[in-house]
Amino acid sequence: MKFKLLIVYIVGLCTSAQAQVQHAFNVKVNAPSATIEPTMWGVFFEDINLGADGGIYAELVKNRSFEFYKPMMGWTVRQKHFTEGAVLVTNRKAENTANPRYIQVTVNNAAKGDLGLVNEGFRGMGIKKDLRYDFSVMYHLPQSGIQLHVELVDSLGNILGGTSVTPAPTGEGWQKAVASFTANATVLKATMRIWFEGNGIIDMDMISLFPADTWKNRPGGMRADMVQMLADMKPGFIRFPGGCIVEGFDLSTRYQWKKTIGPIEERQLIINRWNAEFAHRPTPDYFQTFGLGFFEYFQLAEDIGAAPLPILNCGMACQFNSAEVVPLKEIDPYVQDALDLIEFANGDTSSTWGSVRAYMGHPASFNLTMMGVGNENWGPQYLERLKVFTAAIKAKYPKIKIVNSSGTDPDGERFDLLNTELRSMHADIIDEHYYRKPEWFFANARRYDNYPRNSSKIFGGEYAAQSDHTVSVNNKNCWLTALSEAAFMTGLERNADVVSMASYAPLFAHVDGWQWTPDLIWVNNLQSYGTPDYYVQKLYALNKGTNAVPLTMNDEVVAGQDSLYATAAIDATTHELIVKLVNASDKLQSNTLMLEGVKKLAATAKLTVLQSDDLFSVNTFETPTKVAPQEREMVVKGKQIIVSTAPYSFTVLRVKIL
Ligand code: AHR
Repeated sequence: MKFKLLIVYIVGLCTSAQAQVQHAFNVKVNAPSATIEPTMWGVFFEDINLGADGGIYAELVKNRSFEFYKPMMGWTVRQKHFTEGAVLVTNRKAENTANPRYIQVTVNNAAKGDLGLVNEGFRGMGIKKDLRYDFSVMYHLPQSGIQLHVELVDSLGNILGGTSVTPAPTGEGWQKAVASFTANATVLKATMRIWFEGNGIIDMDMISLFPADTWKNRPGGMRADMVQMLADMKPGFIRFPGGCIVEGFDLSTRYQWKKTIGPIEERQLIINRWNAEFAHRPTPDYFQTFGLGFFEYFQLAEDIGAAPLPILNCGMACQFNSAEVVPLKEIDPYVQDALDLIEFANGDTSSTWGSVRAYMGHPASFNLTMMGVGNENWGPQYLERLKVFTAAIKAKYPKIKIVNSSGTDPDGERFDLLNTELRSMHADIIDEHYYRKPEWFFANARRYDNYPRNSSKIFGGEYAAQSDHTVSVNNKNCWLTALSEAAFMTGLERNADVVSMASYAPLFAHVDGWQWTPDLIWVNNLQSYGTPDYYVQKLYALNKGTNAVPLTMNDEVVAGQDSLYATAAIDATTHELIVKLVNASDKLQSNTLMLEGVKKLAATAKLTVLQSDDLFSVNTFETPTKVAPQEREMVVKGKQIIVSTAPYSFTVLRVKIL
């Protein structure tokens, strides 16, 4: 209902305004007004909505190390004849604090099918025909004589492929057994069974199954389709690991990067803070294994050509949850984590943390240039802690830019306090978040036109138009939300001297495991698709340009007149003019671009158009490109270009300047 009112509001905006279908825009092509940073359009990654575990991290086995608070969560024991203690959860906490639990399986004269374990996967396991699957297990054999039969099964019990493993005796220590097989069918929600045959006792941990077709075919790597969606955007930066996940429910569950590197069996799992955050979307099986840890985040950034932007805990847990703070006299380890992270990313291989990076396989620097201190923290407590971090980071690494939080909202008392204080501290970058309705995005296209110049830069670190309201389960990624973001982003580009970075949030959502909507990219166990919002982000990122240039109508910026929004940029390296036009009205509008400061243009321009007559349109797995860019060429004559913009459309024009 509310949604319908909004449509009426937008249509009302257009019809009540003097209906003008002809517009003339002046574009001063030779008068660059702002440098557009290479980082301008980026991505925000957080392990929310099964973004990492159960998502981009391609591990198919849920609770592989039995460390969930219910140790057998995700697993079922199959026994033909019940024997008490045949599968025993064992805890060796004194010996292994990071990964204490394992299971001990005792097998007595068992045939295949007598005793087994079934893993259900995150929401099932997505299996592809003819693809290789790599099974592995860490094991110890108190008594040898056991054979394992591993198989994938569909919901009808059909076997999709499998292998057998005869674990070799281990002596005292643990070993890894590996075996691979090829699947014979494509199934969205398979399960994995392990049957035990023979006589003996086996201890098992880190039971794992990965598809072979990971990103760059890295063993134990990431889902290639999901990384490709990011790579296709050519993002300027990637923010990680969040988001509220940085803060934790309390300080014990804050994100600690040092616990996310090194051998995966030594990375201590913790509960995911989104596990129980929303009573209406409980996800009791959501944990962070850190198989995707800080080394992998940096590697991902490098792979997709994005500048890494880690956000660190500032000594404060989520202020919506426990709101715990570390006393200032105990803050040193937190600050040390930040300093050590810079060394981990950039330090010489002879340095303590640089050598860890090299040992993990990356001797070269990851070229870290910026880091965030705090996610959505606020209040004087934040400022006190931030000052300690800032002094320490700037003293040791003066070139590292610090991203500072301005809280949860782009206005209000908390925002005003931080905005004032951060500016008086000459903060490098201020992170603003806007989870607002589409009308806010339309109305705020001029937000930065009068912001202070030559001081702190702005990072639109998290934003998404909410078709219903923030944290509503009814929010949809529809064409209206995307169009409103496209309109708002004209103001970001126009003010690129103030706004140096921006990213939509959250990035990924699993269709069977999400907590928060809307999200940029939706996935199931096998596929992923971009929302209309994704295509808006992508079009901005792929058509960034190097400098904004003035575009005006009757000497005013174009930010809502007749529901039109526009911005122009040049790409000094390719010698192109790039104009972005949003028509948020229900009318076809004709826009004449009158170009100043150019001698000649190419004979054709490229138009890329995102459009739908239906503001409720959404993309789905069945129709993933219902709202997706369409390209065409148009003939250009002289120095005036007439671009017709369809109702409810976002158009990008590129033309070569000769
Ligand atoms: O993007 C989802 C959440 O929204 C982030 O974790 C948090 O920073 C914001 O409140």
